[in-house]
Amino acid sequence: MSEPGFIVTKEYRRFAEFCDACRRERHIGLCYGPPGVGKTLSARRYARWEVLGPVIERHAFYADIPSHPDLAECRTVLFTPSVTTTPKRVDDELTNLRHRLHAIICEALYPDDYQTIRYADDRWIELIIVDEADRLNFPALEQLRDVYDRGAFGVILIGMPGIEKRLARYAQFYSRVGFVYQFRALSVEEMRFILTHKWREMGLTLAPDDFTDAEALAAMIRITGGNFRLVQRLCSQIARILEINALRTVTAEVVEAARENLVIGPLI
Ligand SMILES: Nc1ncnc2c1ncn2[C@@H]1O[C@H](COP(=O)(O)OP(=O)(O)O)[C@@H](O)[C@H]1O
Ligand SMILES: [Mg+2]
Repeated sequence: MSEPGFIVTKEYRRFAEFCDACRRERHIGLCYGPPGVGKTLSARRYARWEVLGPVIERHAFYADIPSHPDLAECRTVLFTPSVTTTPKRVDDELTNLRHRLHAIICEALYPDDYQTIRYADDRWIELIIVDEADRLNFPALEQLRDVYDRGAFGVILIGMPGIEKRLARYAQFYSRVGFVYQFRALSVEEMRFILTHKWREMGLTLAPDDFTDAEALAAMIRITGGNFRLVQRLCSQIARILEINALRTVTAEVVEAARENLVIGPLI
């Protein structure tokens, strides 16, 4: 039902509260953070996109399509513009997503009442999340503002750090931004929690009191800087090294060897 392997972190909970607030107040919200900290996955989880995305994709406007009662509570669409997105594409795709989700919700709530289902309607939609919002140029942003002004939903833009400064140059758009949210990397305590989980996945137990484990843990925290994507990649390298060398313990040397096999860009 949810993103496979998704870990509900503190950052995710804060992100979900931010989404709830934008949705409740029908504001524009701005969320930014460095690559790999979990923005996209969190947005997908919030919108239940793992389940809803494919249903929307397949959804056809016929009366006899199956209803999805489990999706009755969904109120959020997730839109990822392509690098070449034009204002018209923004308008068309957002209209399409909203109308489809609206029909899916109506079908889930009133499966036998075709009168209630208005296909060209979006009254059930409460939030639009735009991932990779850095890709939107000024005309596309203007179009998004127009969609927002004509609708009755909140909008969240997710982007890289710096997007808030870029948007501040567009007074019309920026004046509508109600909330800003900075998505942060994992804290040291959370890294401990997640790595314990990862160790278990590799069939090992992590004993933070044990000197060797504590040292390996410290090395992983230092190398990844709490970046989720790096944690995942480092862990798969570690698993590989353990297997090749038939080892049963993750030591600081194993972590170091794993790091050497990774391409780690500038940690921002
Ligand atoms: N909450 C989470 N639980 C488990 N894995 C996560 C979580 N958040 C991020 N990840 C891992 O980190 C990777 C990068 O996350 P992503 O959401 O794509 O980052 P961003 O959009 O900020 O660049 C994911 O592919 C996944 O492996
Ligand atoms: Mg992303």
